[in-house]
Amino acid sequence: MAKMDLNLILLGGPGAGKGTQASRIVDSMDLVHLSTGDILREEVSEGTELGRQAKEYMDRGDLVPDELIIDMVSNKLDQDSGYLFDGFPRTISQAEELEDVLEIDKVIYINISKEEAVRRLSARRVCSECGEIYNLLFDKPSEPGVCDKCNGELYQRSDDRPEVIRNRFETFLEQSAPLIDFYRDRGTLVEVDGEREPGEIFEEVRSAIS
Ligand code: AP5
Repeated sequence: MAKMDLNLILLGGPGAGKGTQASRIVDSMDLVHLSTGDILREEVSEGTELGRQAKEYMDRGDLVPDELIIDMVSNKLDQDSGYLFDGFPRTISQAEELEDVLEIDKVIYINISKEEAVRRLSARRVCSECGEIYNLLFDKPSEPGVCDKCNGELYQRSDDRPEVIRNRFETFLEQSAPLIDFYRDRGTLVEVDGEREPGEIFEEVRSAIS
């Protein structure tokens, strides 16, 4: 795959399908996938100081404070390829910090309703080894509890409980939705309807970024 200079953002509420689309995008484009949620979960499971501080916010479905996130992301921006940001930025202040260091080419906003988020996330399972995402309603593994790709064990995220999912959605509306206008004003926003087949969404995303 050719190296890409493109910098993309996947924006959307919980369960919008950011991780699902990110995996398809990096399969076809040489971009560094940077998911702040994945990095934070790794910090939590390794028991680092950052993980310890982040966990209480994540368990409630609140945002981790900007200064922790900005430091964490700054330490990762060391590649010479383009980036696919997934779940970052999530506040205007994070977006302003990011635009000081990188030019963003496109922001894909995947739009779904709160009801759909709760339905999807209550049935999500994730591979503990390779991170592949499944859904017990729409995209089951061939063998229950086992990843089709690597045979790793599937688990349910601790923030995928209905009351936490609802709070994550409210947090998105209050703190992250202002980014929609922020990027619309910069002419980089592409809005896609996230309540369709993943393949159909991917085709629209691909034509928007190519
Ligand atoms: P994060 O891990 O980023 O969680 P999120 O934004 O809530 O998003 P999700 O990972 O739940 O959903 P997704 O959009 O990736 O959907 P997926 O593809 O998995 O963040 C977790 C926490 O970390 C936050 O709450 C916060 O505390 C903290 N945090 C992270 N970043 C931060 C930041 N920048 N600042 C501050 N705090 C931060 O799909 C979901 C399910 O739906 C799957 O089962 C999938 O199979 C299914 N699915 C996907 N697409 C479709 C479709 N089109 N049709 C049907 N099913 C579908």
